[in-house]
Amino acid sequence: MSGLERLTAGRGLLFGGDYNPEQWPEEVWAEDAALMREAGVNLVTVGVFSWARLEPEPGARDFGWLDRVMDLMAGAGIAVDLATPTASPPPWLGHLRPETLPEDASGHRLWYGSRNQFCPSSPGYRERALGIVGDLAARYAGHPALALWHVGNEYGQICHCDVSAQAFRAWLERRYGGLDALNAAWGTTFWSQRYSGWAEILPPRRAPYLVNPTQSLDWQRFCSDALLDHFRAERDVLREHTPDIPVTTNFMGLFKPVDAWKWAAEEDVVSNDCYPDPGDPLAPARTALVHDLMRGLAGGRPWLLMEQAAGAVNWRPHNLPKPPGQLRLESLQALARGADGLCYFQWRASRFGAERFHSAMVPHAGPDTRLHREVRTHGRELRGLGEVAGQPVPARVALVFGWESWWALEEPARPSDRLRADEQLLAYYLPLWERGVAVDVVPPDAELGGYALVVVPNLFLVTDREADALTAYVRGGGTLVVGPFSGVVDPDGHVRTGRFPAPLRAVLGASGEEWLPAAGEVGCRWREGEAFTAHTWTELMAAEGAEAVAEFTGGDLAGRPAVLRHRAGDGVAWYVATLPEPAALAEVMARALADAGVRGEVAELPPGVEAVRRGEVLFLLNHGAATARVDPGGRCEDLLTGAVADGPVTLPPRAVAALRRRT
Ligand code: GAL
Ligand code: ZN
Repeated sequence: MSGLERLTAGRGLLFGGDYNPEQWPEEVWAEDAALMREAGVNLVTVGVFSWARLEPEPGARDFGWLDRVMDLMAGAGIAVDLATPTASPPPWLGHLRPETLPEDASGHRLWYGSRNQFCPSSPGYRERALGIVGDLAARYAGHPALALWHVGNEYGQICHCDVSAQAFRAWLERRYGGLDALNAAWGTTFWSQRYSGWAEILPPRRAPYLVNPTQSLDWQRFCSDALLDHFRAERDVLREHTPDIPVTTNFMGLFKPVDAWKWAAEEDVVSNDCYPDPGDPLAPARTALVHDLMRGLAGGRPWLLMEQAAGAVNWRPHNLPKPPGQLRLESLQALARGADGLCYFQWRASRFGAERFHSAMVPHAGPDTRLHREVRTHGRELRGLGEVAGQPVPARVALVFGWESWWALEEPARPSDRLRADEQLLAYYLPLWERGVAVDVVPPDAELGGYALVVVPNLFLVTDREADALTAYVRGGGTLVVGPFSGVVDPDGHVRTGRFPAPLRAVLGASGEEWLPAAGEVGCRWREGEAFTAHTWTELMAAEGAEAVAEFTGGDLAGRPAVLRHRAGDGVAWYVATLPEPAALAEVMARALADAGVRGEVAELPPGVEAVRRGEVLFLLNHGAATARVDPGGRCEDLLTGAVADGPVTLPPRAVAALRRRT
């Protein structure tokens, strides 16, 4: 059984949230448990920020209150996702051992009084963290409520201190073996940066001018690894005590500091925190993309939505609420894209502290409120969707995304800082989402053989192996789409010389010689004649066997290829040498889908409606402002309403249908 199956077996879909009883007198706890049961809550995350409560003084232990919480949950039949409390050390740690506190790139220490104030490489922090984790695990091993371990919270801390510098050097020694190799990889003949001894090497601290991009790339690799090392240390302590309890830590979607591909391989359950911005018109697609990423990280198996907001968050400058129905719509969207658990931050709204204006499943006004009624209705309705648990979301399209390339692309001092890896990823995802085409997000070294279409929005840093695999994929009959400024550097961040993208030139049947950021819009034309615009980025390309499907019409590039299509071996490779306006990029993707023989879940999908199939169930979700009608193409039963109908389904704004074919 996979990690999450151990939780859903016998429980069905998971529903609940972060539960912080330490903020409340114990009289409130009984009401919490009763309300949770009524709402269908079956999983709560406890103890994320409880270190100072569990260890009120160095070495002291106070588990009594947590014993009572665990027993209360066990009695109510609610499973506990028990957190190691190490995301927020108590003030006494920073006071006694200031070297456990992180330093920024200017050498300024970040103090306690908030959270996350630890240095990932600090032995003092590690020792204290593992101490409390070990005692926590020993105490609750075998407790009937314990179902999942939640290590830390939203890992992403970075520290530039001397201890981190030492750890960085050790990491570099493992990577390079010797200083000569490091000097070569970092290109230190540039600007007189040659290192003559390991002790000279520093994190990229604040410097007079641009820092070495390879130093910075390695630093980002190191920072992700240093945190992962700490995660592993906690996980291993937990596993010693409770080998059968799965371990997770909550990701933050497309979060740059942590290479989630590497991390996911180290956990039993992939979980994520997701806070779509109600004011962002692209939020539904952006969120779908992140959900698909989580499914990819979980290797196609189910994942857990650890945190979402029941209403507004409090950390944007102006916090738009979720209109009625939005809570359910967003939660079901995650379910449709592979989540087997839909959880919230948090159960009961805090009265004090930095998040006192953050929404919760039980608002300040209490349970007799619109918001809590929505929570309860949603929790109950999930009981009826149990058959979806464990089901896959089959996809024939792969979207390639890797953290190393992201880091390398977004170093400063490049042709344009307006070309961003996450934005390109979304731009290429959007037309697929709009057509209801299922997508797996995969790492650059993924096995591609099973996919009909592989989309590489940007792979600035590419290894020889990855480039060869993409080439072999096309020659073997696959369809490939590659976006601009791909294949530019090797794993050291060194520019690959020759016409670009050098390692993909043969398969693309095209090559370029200049990257040309654009001042404004750029005119383009399909070969059939119709015009469109592109923006921000252009490249001076020449076809070398590929056909120019579209060309630039304005300026110096007039008549030069903008979009190229090449038959290579048994497959087809597309190259897009600019950032086309959304409708034009959608046209490129439509043609590539046709090459690949891939179609969306339903024939005609109105704007704003999302369609995704999970197992036998076709989910239709209306994110738009208008009532939509969608024809699922046959007689279906809606699992949410029980209604059976033939022909089109009517979906008012924020409505969801979960359709299973009936004969
Ligand atoms: C998450 C975090 C929670 C809470 C929440 C508020 O980032 O894990 O502890 O702060 O945001 O939206
Ligand atoms: Zn440090």
